[in-house]
Parts: sequence; structure tokens; C-alpha cells
Amino acid sequence: MTDWKNPPRLFIPGPVKVLPEVLQQLARPTLGHRGKEYTQLHGETVSMLKKILYTGQNVFLSTSSASGVWEGSIRNCVQMDEKILCTMCGAFSDKYATVARANGREVDELKVDWGQAITADMVDKKLAAGKYAAVTMVYNETSTGLTNPVYEISDMLKEKYPEVLVFVDAVSGMVGLPLHFDKLGWDVVFASVQKAFAIPPGLAVFAVSDRAMEKAKTVENRGYYFDFLEFAKSGAKDQTPTTPAIPQIMALHYVCTKLLEEGMENVWARHTKMAEYVRQWAKDRFDLFAPEEYCSDTLTTVKNTRGINVAETIKALQEKHNTVFGNGYGKLKEQVFRIAHMGNIDMNDLEEILGWIDDEIK
Ligand SMILES: Cc1ncc(COP(=O)(O)O)c(C=O)c1O
Repeated sequence: MTDWKNPPRLFIPGPVKVLPEVLQQLARPTLGHRGKEYTQLHGETVSMLKKILYTGQNVFLSTSSASGVWEGSIRNCVQMDEKILCTMCGAFSDKYATVARANGREVDELKVDWGQAITADMVDKKLAAGKYAAVTMVYNETSTGLTNPVYEISDMLKEKYPEVLVFVDAVSGMVGLPLHFDKLGWDVVFASVQKAFAIPPGLAVFAVSDRAMEKAKTVENRGYYFDFLEFAKSGAKDQTPTTPAIPQIMALHYVCTKLLEEGMENVWARHTKMAEYVRQWAKDRFDLFAPEEYCSDTLTTVKNTRGINVAETIKALQEKHNTVFGNGYGKLKEQVFRIAHMGNIDMNDLEEILGWIDDEIK
């Protein structure tokens, strides 16, 4: 039986390593969620998140994982008779389309092979040929270790299709990769805290543009749990519509303070440095799965060119070092493996795990 009291060191692409001082935040005495202590905690956390996301618009905390906001973005901001363009380049961007359809919306797909990026040109061509209310994108496709060129795509969208709403899944990108919400002109962005925020799971952070909030007022049947207007109403009082995951919010407050002390540019540079180190290791021994220009700075997906038994290697590291990394996701199992370098994972951690993998593949 798994010994959950002696958990493995995590190099899977989320959840990732949590610092002891962050864990301590989760153990603080709880607060009443309508009391003044909570509203102070909430208000300060949201203010810091606005700085982290470079936005003066709306930021909300959802006691759910980020998947809930996939659904929320569709249900709040797209009418039943409007069409969505879903850009698809891996398991999670594919899932966004599934969620849009599950909520009864019509979807057109812009699909590339797993490991390829979505480019501004591709999105431009698709949007030119149809009428869409919204486009969905994944910033960092965790199943393939690929970062889409979202800044280029967003520049094109602002210039040529300013009326189209832009929904971005930044689950494994937020904090680890540059994200200037207002400048990018995005309408909804979201992430779970167990990725680069490096907090145990149970909470999602999301931002919504003012115009998307206006649109939500015109959309019927938004549901309740992810109703953006409910979030805004409670947010105005520095609260959430329902009882939130207060321990995670205490941890988030702590992490946001630290991120702002470090400075976001430095946080992003730290992720790039870790990524470059892992990419070099991968190129020396295997190959990168994604084209190098699109390789992610929060995780590396290594192409298993040597045909190693990935599952056995993971098992060996777990047995010898109580450490785990990620096998390929879904259909990529054994063809690739994934190593996270986000949040509080550091260069020493990476030297250790890569050394241990080296020991196994000699
Ligand atoms: C890019 C991306 N989107 C969405 C999700 C779903 O996130 P959650 O399970 O936290 O809802 C994940 C999870 O790994 C992800 O990597």
C-alpha cells in the first residue's frame, strides 16, 4: 500500500513540490468566511494576484480545480446559438472543446498534431472563414510540454478580430511564464494552484475582462457555482459566493507575497534557467518532443529516442529515491516522459533527479 505519510518527491507536472512554510499556512486556524479577517485575507490576495497577472480588471478565487473555469468561461460568455473556435494541440486543449460541446455550444476545431504549436497564421485563417463569438487556447499544453506563441496570436486577434472573446487555459503556465492579461487583451484566463503557484490542489485563480463580465449579463442559464456575476457580487465584498478553501487561500496569500518580493520578471527568468538546464540534459541523451522554439519553461517532454522502459525507470526512482516524474500523457505513454521544473523546484532538485535517471539509463 502507498505510504501517504512518506510521500514521494514530485517532478510530475503538477501537483509539484510544496515548501514546508507553505504547508504551515494550510495548518493555520480557520476563519469564518464572512468575517473581517477573511475579507482582509481575500482582498489582499486578490490585489496581489492583479499585480501578478498584470491586470486592473476582475480576479476571482474558485474553490475548484481549474477545470471548473473551462466550463465557467463557456457558460458565462457564449450564447447558446454562438460558435466557438477551439484551438487543439494536445490532451488539455482538446478537452476544452469537449467541455464546450458538453455545454451545448457549437465548436469548430483548429487541430494540429500533438507536439505541434498553434500559430497566429492558423488562427487568423480559421477566424477569417467563419463567425465566432470566442476562441479557446491553451497557453502551455501540459500533455506535450509545449508553449503556444500566445503573445503573437493575441496581437493578431486584437488587430484583426477585436470582437472575438479570448479564453486561455494557463493552468501550467501562470506564474511560470509571462502573462500580461490586460495587454494581451484576453477575456478569461485560469489556473489551478497546484502547478507553478506550488500549493496543494483545491483552488483555482481566474481573471475575467470587464467586457466578458458585460457579456455574461446577457447570457442565460449560466449555472450557479461558476456564475461570474455571483463571483463579482461577492468579490465586491472581498468574499466568494460559497465557502472557499480558506487554507489554500492562506497559502496563496503567502506565495503571492513571495512572488512579488522576488519580482515576476525574476520568477519567469528562474523558470527559463531551469528549463534550459533540463532541455540540454534531454538533448544530450534523448531528444525534445516539441520543436525547441516552443518548448515549455515549466516542464520538459523528453522524446524517448533510446526506447527506455519509462514505467520501470519511474518505478526504480520511486523505490531507490522516493521520487517520481511523469510518463507520457495518454497516447504518448512510453514514447515520451515529462519532468516538471516549476514553482519551488530548484536547480539542486533537478541535478538530483536527472542524475538518478542517468544512473538508470547507463
Ligand atoms: C493545461 C491544463 N489544463 C487543464 C488542466 C486541468 O486542471 P485541473 O485538474 O486542476 O482542473 C490541466 C491539468 O493538468 C492542465 O495541465
